[in-house]
Amino acid sequence: SQIKQVEFVKSSSKPRDCPKDDRPEFAIVGRSNVGKSSLINALVRKKEFALTSKKPGKTQLINHFLINKSWYLVDLPGYGFAVASEAARTDWTSFTKGYFLNRETLVAVLLLVDASIPPQKIDLDCANWLGRNNIPMTFVFTKCDKMKASKGKRPDENIRAFQELLRKYYKEPPPWIMTSSMTGLGRDELLLHMSQLRYH
Ligand code: GTP
Ligand code: MG
Repeated sequence: SQIKQVEFVKSSSKPRDCPKDDRPEFAIVGRSNVGKSSLINALVRKKEFALTSKKPGKTQLINHFLINKSWYLVDLPGYGFAVASEAARTDWTSFTKGYFLNRETLVAVLLLVDASIPPQKIDLDCANWLGRNNIPMTFVFTKCDKMKASKGKRPDENIRAFQELLRKYYKEPPPWIMTSSMTGLGRDELLLHMSQLRYH
């Protein structure tokens, strides 16, 4: 399940501009700044492959990365970009919802959730929307390396609280993996998980 080769294919501004291809793909989704681009860089072991930034809203297009010439990782714009206008946020939703509902080669969504902060309503809303539309998802908790802040909770406590909230909606909660793009935690587990989903 290792990554031997990676190739940036294209950036698309509309779902219908995405590569016309039957190879399977995984979409990386989450709040702005949750660490989507960093996770891609950690998975492919390249520092600045998918551009990262401290400024939220860096990724504004659907970016397709072809892995080992056999499957795609897709970097999507972050949601809940607080600085964006209401109009820009509405655009984001119709834009990515169109992608989720129409992309036939989508194997699963990797829904990234920041483990260094308490559960956020917007992440639960996103999970519920995907669930209602029968789009398979895996929760990928990011920034698990972050130590407890003076007042904050530890990543494992935040994850437990998040899952407690999910239990209201799911009899069987989706799979989940703890990761850190800084330390590489969860990298191999996530790659193995995706290979199992591909060959399922
Ligand atoms: P948008 O493209 O704006 O939606 O953001 P993004 O989700 O792609 O986030 P990005 O990967 O650009 O990371 C945002 C910030 O979080 C950067 O400052 C990263 O260095 C930091 N970050 C990402 N992953 C981790 C992690 O695992 N641990 C820690 N400590 N910081 C991280
Ligand atoms: Mg990004």
